[in-house]
Amino acid sequence: MLFSQQYQQLPTVDKQTGERDSFRKDTRKRGFCLRAIAIIAIMWASLTAARMFRSKGFWSACHGLQRNSSTLAQLPSHYTLPSGDKIPSVALGVWQASKGETALEVGYKHIDGAWIYRNEEEVGQALKESSVPREELWLTSKLWNTFHAPEDIEPALDQSLSMLGTDYLDLYLIHWPVAFKKEGSNILDENLTADPYPTWQKLEELVDKGKIRNIGISNFNIRRVQNLTANKLKYQPAVNQWSKENGLLLEAYSPLGSDKQVGQSLSVPEVKDVASKLGITPAQVLISWHVQRGTIVLPKSVTPSRILENLNVFELPQEDFEKLETAATSHPPQRVVNPSNGWKLPFDVFDGQ
Ligand SMILES: NC(=O)c1ccc[n+]([C@@H]2O[C@H](COP(=O)([O-])OP(=O)(O)OC[C@H]3O[C@@H](n4cnc5c(N)ncnc54)[C@H](OP(=O)(O)O)[C@@H]3O)[C@@H](O)[C@H]2O)c1
Repeated sequence: MLFSQQYQQLPTVDKQTGERDSFRKDTRKRGFCLRAIAIIAIMWASLTAARMFRSKGFWSACHGLQRNSSTLAQLPSHYTLPSGDKIPSVALGVWQASKGETALEVGYKHIDGAWIYRNEEEVGQALKESSVPREELWLTSKLWNTFHAPEDIEPALDQSLSMLGTDYLDLYLIHWPVAFKKEGSNILDENLTADPYPTWQKLEELVDKGKIRNIGISNFNIRRVQNLTANKLKYQPAVNQWSKENGLLLEAYSPLGSDKQVGQSLSVPEVKDVASKLGITPAQVLISWHVQRGTIVLPKSVTPSRILENLNVFELPQEDFEKLETAATSHPPQRVVNPSNGWKLPFDVFDGQ
């Protein structure tokens, strides 16, 4: 019974063409259906594209199509420093973070670390486990306040190099324009704070020795930058993390408002509007805006999905970029990181005196 049923269902053969009858009919039917579906699909795609081009204009429609391609679009992926070295525009900040192997896997090439973050050994371990060659990575570390005396700098640097498992840094920054004495905790070394030139000269020597490729500063206000650059420097500071002046390349730290204010930054109405208009996240809006302003940006995350999200920056349409600029300058700057009181400094590190 089973066999005969199966047999009856077999198609009959056309004697002229050799084609099986019902198979031929099926094929014709299927061919017709496929052609109809293809025509409908082409008409639908054409109508959608026409609608998109009409409502957004040709280029922005193309931009929309590119947007989720996880490329840097037209934003710079690197900036060139005076040494000629190219520094990647988006870094992973590792303050209050531990291992960064996820970041290396998803394509970060720039790690912003520091001796005081106390995780250089873990970062070094992640670098060792990753397959990214050292020369493709950009490693930044920072000289802590207790090591500003010239004789203490090289041992501090060597310690960072050894923990990171490398024999050179791409960038070494003076973390704060504040020098502490070695003995005791947070006792101000007034001379080295007032005049960081001896510290800088030692750093220049270490550039010549090949242990550092570029040197820079961090948290220096304008007066302090000028105080340093008034000396006859062999190497000008390449970057300044946060503050602004003198044609130095700026690095924007805490670009999302740091732990304390990230929620607030991501809910700024203009940020949310631009994000929903462009179909990207509020964090991507802020990070893209920083790069579009010409700064290096150092978002930190320990959450794998955010680490990936933060690497994808996009060129914002001019009107959206301007909307964010206006929102950013419509209130006095708010500083989220200022240790002056905690260190009991007799001055505000950013106001200086
Ligand atoms: N030179 C200096 O003195 C100095 C000072 C401060 C910072 N820095 C550098 O700048 C880096 C970044 O600064 P930061 O850590 O203060 O602040 P940040 O990057 O502005 O903010 C980090 C906070 O944002 C959250 N976050 C990250 N991506 C997010 C996303 N896509 N959506 C929602 N939340 C997100 C993080 O949470 P999760 O981690 O939980 O995901 C964390 O709570 C530091 O790691 C350090 O390398 C330098």
